[in-house]
Amino acid sequence: MTYDSCWLGQHLGLDNYEVRGEESLIIQTINKELELEATSNEARKVIFSRFADLTESEKSIFKSYMIEDDGYIIKDLGDAVYVVGQKDEGVLYGMFHLQRLLAQKTALKDLEVLENPYNKIRMLNHWDNMDEKDFMGSVERGYAGNSIFFENCQIVKDKSRIKAYARLLASIGINSVSINNVNVHALESKLITEELLPEVAEIAEIFRAYGVKLFLSINYASPITLAGMDTSDPLDEGVRAWWKKQLALVYDYIPDFGGVVVKADSEGRPGPFTYGRTHADGANMLAEALAPYGGLVFWRCFVYNHQQDWRDRSTDRARAAYDHFMPLDGTFLDNVILQIKNGPIDFQVREPLSPLLGAMTQTNQVMEFQITQEYLGHSKDVCFLVPQWKEYFDFDTYAQGSSSTIEKVASGKLHKRQHGGVVAVANIGRDANWTGHKLAQANFYGYGRLIWNPYATADEIATEWTQLTFGMDPKVMKIVKEILLDSWPTYEKYTAPLAVGFMVQPHLHYGVNIDGYEYSRWGTYHFADCHGVGVDRTKATGTGYSHQYFSPNAEIYEDIKTCPDELLLFFHFVPYTHVLQNGVTLIQHIYNTHFEGVADVETFIAKWDKLEGVVDAESFENVKGRLQQQLSNAKEWRDQINTYFYRKSGIADEHVDGSRKGRTIY
Ligand code: GCU
Repeated sequence: MTYDSCWLGQHLGLDNYEVRGEESLIIQTINKELELEATSNEARKVIFSRFADLTESEKSIFKSYMIEDDGYIIKDLGDAVYVVGQKDEGVLYGMFHLQRLLAQKTALKDLEVLENPYNKIRMLNHWDNMDEKDFMGSVERGYAGNSIFFENCQIVKDKSRIKAYARLLASIGINSVSINNVNVHALESKLITEELLPEVAEIAEIFRAYGVKLFLSINYASPITLAGMDTSDPLDEGVRAWWKKQLALVYDYIPDFGGVVVKADSEGRPGPFTYGRTHADGANMLAEALAPYGGLVFWRCFVYNHQQDWRDRSTDRARAAYDHFMPLDGTFLDNVILQIKNGPIDFQVREPLSPLLGAMTQTNQVMEFQITQEYLGHSKDVCFLVPQWKEYFDFDTYAQGSSSTIEKVASGKLHKRQHGGVVAVANIGRDANWTGHKLAQANFYGYGRLIWNPYATADEIATEWTQLTFGMDPKVMKIVKEILLDSWPTYEKYTAPLAVGFMVQPHLHYGVNIDGYEYSRWGTYHFADCHGVGVDRTKATGTGYSHQYFSPNAEIYEDIKTCPDELLLFFHFVPYTHVLQNGVTLIQHIYNTHFEGVADVETFIAKWDKLEGVVDAESFENVKGRLQQQLSNAKEWRDQINTYFYRKSGIADEHVDGSRKGRTIY
């Protein structure tokens, strides 16, 4: 099967180069990459080397540069250009950087680029299933075809696609991957057993050659389901011994196994609560078993009551992660990392940052993003997420006074933690273009680039992806970038307003269903009535969630006058006639943005049409088809939301028969 080489499509071999050092797996990878046909006009010699393999005189030139573990420098020394890393991985990343520069026609003369990754952990989680019955390696919340790892209830036999994937990962600096769903079913539970480890080890070896560590999601109840024990109690000696033995076996097969990802006591998954134990008890048991090998436990904090009674206004799902985990600060072992979703609910188009990020000072944390567009259009609607992630990184938690931004929290720099970084749910599947929507490749690419350097701008990242993908034509560049950079605000305009969240089709999570979750058990309500809409999460009259934040954020969110417009309905129940900071009433804002959102999509289509015959036909048709689907989706959202709120409020659109013709509310 053929598949897209993505942004590596134009990567270039070199005519004149030297690769130094022992033939480690990664150095072999570099050699193979450079042996690719040399289509670059670059005649200069390029030397690839670890610092340790430089000559003494070369070392004296490079020693003043602070090259960290995965970092590298690319420097023109006149007679040759040097790519120097501290470790093999750094040389590999440097090589991909050089290839990017060549593809973008950058002159190497006088070049000097020093790069160190901001985040140590740069990870992807796959939600891929082996599947018991009818399915062929489905992907939970995957919108780009089936799994590249599993099919027919097995690990894929032909692993060439996995190799191509490992190359994509290294090219954007990703160093860790878990390959199976956090919801671990019967078959995937066996990935840590003798039956499947030989093949898991093959995958690990493919990744190893590209500097990527393999992780597995584990089933917390494995002592029961795999070993036939009658308990998974983390304080039971038999259970503890079983995990030690089982994880030792994993290391027999995969000496550099990264560790485990755990979804416990979350949405019905087993966990320590069954035995009256804490999350720390559960996580530490696994951490102890992994510690001798340097393995890590990623323990997810997506813990909330998923059996809520909608009549119960005292329970607030947004509070749950903080309420569960904050009291446990300081009780986790050093190789436990709490994995916290960016927002307190679930990857909505707009949410505040999780207040748990930064609050725990004695516990390792990583932030979890979702690249796959579960709530953001299923790779049918275009939604470039780098601008959203940028905003998240920039958010000041005030955990240690001002400038305690999320990027410092997640990386571990703020609280000087040993481990830190970012994890994201991948949007990769077996579709030829990997991501379903061609433009959704930019999210995958952008994720890697942004977590390497959170100071890169969304514009820079969009530029890079567009040039590497479609070449240097300025017309293509302008149009693709405009669509990408406008796409998240557009999606926000025609979907759930002002961070109220969850107006989607239940379970599917694509398309509009305003009351779909309103009387459900999931704790995601908007409370719209004839007076207003939104959730009162204030301390004064609501759930008190606003005070899980540090001052001054707590006070800013608490007060309807200072709460930012875009988060207003997350924190307050707001009357329709309330005037927003942007000067219009809530109801008018809802109408305006929903009309605008659809108009934006029409503009995207008009712009994209100009690229017919300019970009390759496959990409053109792929994006065109999806934009048409997006338009009908956006119209449905617009009309249902506007009609719904018109009926609830009884307030007409000011523009209905006035200045803006053609605005119909049904
Ligand atoms: C969401 C999503 C689930 C997923 C869960 C998680 O609820 O809909 O499919 O399993 O998040 O992050 O664990």
